[in-house]
Amino acid sequence: MIASECAPYAKTGGLADVVGALPKALRALGHEVIVIMPKYASINTQKYMIHPFLSPMGVWMGNAQEWCAVHAATNDGVPVYFIESNKYFDRYGLYNDASFNDYQDNPRRFGFLTRAGLQLCHDIGFAPDVVHSHDWQAALAPAYLKIWHWNDPVLGGAASLLTIHNIGYQGVYSAASYDYLGLQPGNFTADKFEDHGRINFLKGGIAYADRVNTVSPTYAQETRTPAYAYGLAPYLNDKGENYIGILNGVDYTEWNPAVDTLIPARYTPSDMSGKALCKEALQRRFGLEVNPDIPILGIVTRLAEQKGMHLLAAAIGDIVSQMQLQVVILGSGDKHLETAFGALPARYTGRIGSFIGYNNELAHWIEAGSDFFIMPSLYEPCGLNQIYSLKYGTLPIVRATGGLEDTVQQYDEASGEGTGFKFWEPSSRAIYYAVGWAVSTYFDRRQHIEKMIHKAMVQNYSWDQSALLYVQAYQKALSHKKGENR
Ligand code: ADP
Ligand code: GLC
Repeated sequence: MIASECAPYAKTGGLADVVGALPKALRALGHEVIVIMPKYASINTQKYMIHPFLSPMGVWMGNAQEWCAVHAATNDGVPVYFIESNKYFDRYGLYNDASFNDYQDNPRRFGFLTRAGLQLCHDIGFAPDVVHSHDWQAALAPAYLKIWHWNDPVLGGAASLLTIHNIGYQGVYSAASYDYLGLQPGNFTADKFEDHGRINFLKGGIAYADRVNTVSPTYAQETRTPAYAYGLAPYLNDKGENYIGILNGVDYTEWNPAVDTLIPARYTPSDMSGKALCKEALQRRFGLEVNPDIPILGIVTRLAEQKGMHLLAAAIGDIVSQMQLQVVILGSGDKHLETAFGALPARYTGRIGSFIGYNNELAHWIEAGSDFFIMPSLYEPCGLNQIYSLKYGTLPIVRATGGLEDTVQQYDEASGEGTGFKFWEPSSRAIYYAVGWAVSTYFDRRQHIEKMIHKAMVQNYSWDQSALLYVQAYQKALSHKKGENR
């Protein structure tokens, strides 16, 4: 696997969780997996026992060879290799500087990562059946395999799978880097890498990959339509049955209130007393009124339009003024949203708490201590937090899109069945009504809430099932590759 993030080493979102967990699940099924990622300045090499592995390693970019070193560690038995290039990775952030400006040389940085990853396989004689690349940052791997490694004794037999975690980020850059990336002039065409005169990493990867998937069945359907695909629907449809959706799993050794050591108290469906303690601790930590009978709405998110946070920002004042509800927000991202959410506790003292920044422990506290968890996403390829919420008995309130649609079962007022509250319209008004529905259920049909909590907590979205689907996808990718070579 080649990826730009992998938990626990470097993470900005769910991509890291997936790249951290899926290899372990594949390994448990008897497969051999290695992970290749950048050696970012932020990675704690001591804590994770990351050690020098290979130096120097030459990588051909454009017409010249560039040099890097490779470091290694083991993540629960999975070998992880870190490409060290001070020129590209020894900086503040993964993708952007401290002012959230994307690094101008991102196409070169991640083109280099990908090329170096394949070079590493070649140099150590690791002959994979499949090279699995994640998102635009690694999307050139399928192309490099076919352009440069087709008769390589080590990599010549490798098929490719490209996973799209978010089609809103395609890696579109000026054509100035095209020669450096070594993709051959003949491939700068509209069906491959060319996109209105620029380079589109994801589009080229889709064209070259033996198989492409995204991270939920509903998002796979949605991205076959123009409204969700940011221009790539025709290319995904061209893949036919070689474009599929596989729902992410979650790592229940990390996200499970029965074993979570980050939260104030542990609990299970049969003994929920620990959840009450987590709620009280959360209320104290955020300076909210300490009261077990006021429901808490939790939010943990990148503050971005994708997540519908601008819609929530417009509704939140009415929500807390007109409903018996407290709100806790943890997020970072867009500056104007950080300002808007950061200012709320001062305006709604004792009713809204917020922490602007990134804090894993707090994310666990919010999952455990809240009664509801909201994700009003405009689109959501999979979404992990709503799945964590289910396990923590924190009922999700979600817009019915992508993985949110696939993982949350709508509440039925007649029977009390369901695991959460869904709405469809992407608007502040719809958010307001959905939260109102959840809050009124909390006060008026408490037995339904209890039933839903229980049902939510026993849902199983572990990686076991999804890893089997990835193995099938790998096998299909291999037969596609063999068919092409015939
Ligand atoms: P995305 O990858 O689109 O951001 P996901 O729901 O797939 O959305 O994954 C988000 C992951 O990042 C979760 O593990 C969540 O807990 C974590 N996360 C997001 N924002 C923060 C934050 N501010 N602090 C801590 N963890 C966060
Ligand atoms: C992306 C998506 C998110 C998904 C994650 C992991 O960041 O936005 O929905 O859960 O990738 O696949």
